[in-house]
Amino acid sequence: MPDLSPALRIGALAIWPPVVLAPMSGVTNRTLRALYKPFGFGLTVTEFVSSNALQYGSKRSMEMIDQHGVEKPVSTQLWGNDPKIMAYAAQVVRECGADIVDINFGCPAPKVTKTEGGSACLRDVERCEAIMRAVVGAVDCPVTVKMRLGWNENTHVYLEVAKRAEAAGVRALTLHARTAKQFYKGEADWSHIAALKAAVGIPVIGNGDLGDARDALVRMRRSGVDGIMLGRAVLGNPWLASGIRSLLEGTEPAPVPGPADRLRFALHHYRVMVEEWGEAHAVPQMRKHLGHYLKGFAGAAELRERVMRTLTAEATRREVEGTIARLEANAMVAA
Ligand SMILES: Cc1cc2nc3c(=O)[nH]c(=O)nc-3n(C[C@H](O)[C@H](O)[C@H](O)COP(=O)(O)O)c2cc1C
Repeated sequence: MPDLSPALRIGALAIWPPVVLAPMSGVTNRTLRALYKPFGFGLTVTEFVSSNALQYGSKRSMEMIDQHGVEKPVSTQLWGNDPKIMAYAAQVVRECGADIVDINFGCPAPKVTKTEGGSACLRDVERCEAIMRAVVGAVDCPVTVKMRLGWNENTHVYLEVAKRAEAAGVRALTLHARTAKQFYKGEADWSHIAALKAAVGIPVIGNGDLGDARDALVRMRRSGVDGIMLGRAVLGNPWLASGIRSLLEGTEPAPVPGPADRLRFALHHYRVMVEEWGEAHAVPQMRKHLGHYLKGFAGAAELRERVMRTLTAEATRREVEGTIARLEANAMVAA
């Protein structure tokens, strides 16, 4: 392990590279986590799972916490507002293989906040503390928390929640440096991430708007965080994580693959999704992923539109393979 950049230590786990694939609902299922981890993620996080749904043994929730095996260690993220139910759900996910249980105090989606879950918990720091204590007491693995700054710009409670988290035995904190009310608007304010790092003794993971490898390293060093978390920018571009890993190792990042190679990887992703989930599930799911892969070359927008309408994996494969052939023919002409 290079000295240049120490591992992110969460409890007894030494995580290297100290780069985490963000939990993304509807996106970071076991297939994507397993496919993206080797690019340079030391840790991946499941989609958030409702503790209430887990309590009732919902089939969909059990699928969401399922692991591939190759992507370990895995952090399983839970949301809810009831300490007892959160504690029970934590035991379920731990029994199902979670290496870390992560508590979601960040989701701003109305369907979650209207039940006082996700970022709505930040409106009641006592409740946050009760949830953290209940979950920490329920499992024998590290418990972490992912949160936003607060509910709105006038109620930044992240430092208060962080101090209570540390006292409750939480082993690491991730801060997405926006308020719940901001959703994804404005810019993540990394000065708050630096303030959090300065305020607590447990590891801090910085999150928000990391889209470029060198910039990510600068923000990591300036804020002093122990790890970083990448979300939207890696969708269709897992090579961002490889670039960051190279910089952490003190080497120059390899050039990012050209469009034809990116599309080949997209087809591989497609094939694995169909194999693992069946065509009926994979085809609609893959539309959003292809939307990310099919960018940055002449004709990408038209291809994106066409694959949004294809109904079978075979039709999509033909479209994408045709584009790969065209891109390669054009490259030969240009050479
Ligand atoms: C489609 C999507 C789904 C998300 N789902 C979750 C989730 O389940 N749990 C969570 O804590 N954050 C979730 N987030 C927030 C991300 O984990 C991350 O905090 C946010 O996107 C900011 O990081 P970024 O700028 O690198 O994307 C989601 C974000 C997106 C775009």
